[in-house]
Amino acid sequence: MSDIIVKNPATGEILATVKADSAEVVNTKLEKGAKAFAHFSKTDAYERAALLERWAELIMKHQDELAEIMTKENGKPLKESQGEVLYAKSYLTWYAEEAKRIYGRTIPASSPNKRLLVTRQGVGLVAAITPWNFPAAMMTRKAGPALAAGCTFIVKPAEDTPLTMIRLVELAHEAGIPEDVIQIVNGQGADIGPLFTASPYVRKITFTGSTPVGKLLMKESADSVKHVSMELGGHAPFIVCEDADIDYTVTQAIASKFRNAGQTCVCANRFLVHENVLAEFSEKFAKAAKALKVGNGLEEGVDVGPLINQKGFQKVVAQIEDAKAKGAKVLTGGTTHFDDEKGFYFIDPTILADVTLDMNIMQEETFGPVAPIVAFKTIEEAIEIANSTPFGLAAYFFTNNYQTGIYCQENLTFGILGWNDGLPSTAQAPFGGLKESGIGNEGGSEGIEPYLETKYLSIGNVKA
Ligand code: SIN
Repeated sequence: MSDIIVKNPATGEILATVKADSAEVVNTKLEKGAKAFAHFSKTDAYERAALLERWAELIMKHQDELAEIMTKENGKPLKESQGEVLYAKSYLTWYAEEAKRIYGRTIPASSPNKRLLVTRQGVGLVAAITPWNFPAAMMTRKAGPALAAGCTFIVKPAEDTPLTMIRLVELAHEAGIPEDVIQIVNGQGADIGPLFTASPYVRKITFTGSTPVGKLLMKESADSVKHVSMELGGHAPFIVCEDADIDYTVTQAIASKFRNAGQTCVCANRFLVHENVLAEFSEKFAKAAKALKVGNGLEEGVDVGPLINQKGFQKVVAQIEDAKAKGAKVLTGGTTHFDDEKGFYFIDPTILADVTLDMNIMQEETFGPVAPIVAFKTIEEAIEIANSTPFGLAAYFFTNNYQTGIYCQENLTFGILGWNDGLPSTAQAPFGGLKESGIGNEGGSEGIEPYLETKYLSIGNVKA
């Protein structure tokens, strides 16, 4: 297993070399995690809640340090990293509360001498594989409910961004969460994934990442019938109706599209704009995108950081080139700043007009700061375009007409909907995709369910 060289994607500077765990080390950790479940699952909900609260407090105490590590290894602007630290912490405090609400139930029996009880318990050792685009929050969104449910937890961070996670796990241990209850392993996904899925100690796999890798993990998990939760790719439509408040909609479009340089699963990917407001929206959106400052996220005033790596950069550039070749017009951006030798890759916020549905950018997830705009005539047509994808994670629609709004809510086949809202994610609400965007939810009261299983008890010969 080759060690991991962590680079700053804004400069190409080497930040650290992280030792990759051997298969033997990974398997030993998995065994320890499974053994720790025997006692951790017996702790009471108040004790687990207190541990999560203490971990959250330590995260707040170290918030500046964590945000700086995150910006250095991920490239996102410091203000976004600071926001992500708070977002990550919010999942721990939310699930500290949810730990106390894992209820069972009693069922009326059909005999006076029987009592029927349903109880809930943690599934066991949970193995998590997390992405580089949210190095902190995607882990706490899984660890929070897992630990609240009494599960033990082992996580493999993305190779591009392991440093934030290493620090978070150190803080978890400092908070008093036993070392075998929350563990980290490092290595390449292709090495660690099969060890997780093959292990008899792991009872659940939770993954955030691409749809092809998610499918593979699901197939590999089938042999031992593991629980799986999958937060996979998206291709979010952003529908601007004729009656939308265009100035407000532009602020939401900027937030949704250019957060994390467009490298989020929920970011708006396909802008569908009513033909009567197309010119106004396109002009204002392009003007606002042009005003965004691109650069090293540690520098003051930077709004958009680099792409994570060469592979991500090349995919986005290929989509821009394909669109241009098929007739798209660049309203702003389309320019790049990169250095293959040093290893940094920037793309200026790019808005494309005259986009047609056959362009790759309308078919594939982008994961970059590029917004294609397509005109529509009727809301039925917009919904049809929006739904014409195997993905179903997030969708946005902007209208002040309640009939149009409800129509969109009922007809869009997406798990997360923002009505006049470009940033719907929050700890207290469910986050999850339909179709090939995933299985299960994270966040909200729904987010603890995938870490619990149900036991039914029938008691007979009871004195009536
Ligand atoms: C993601 O990109 O998968 C997470 C985005 C969010 O939590 O808002």
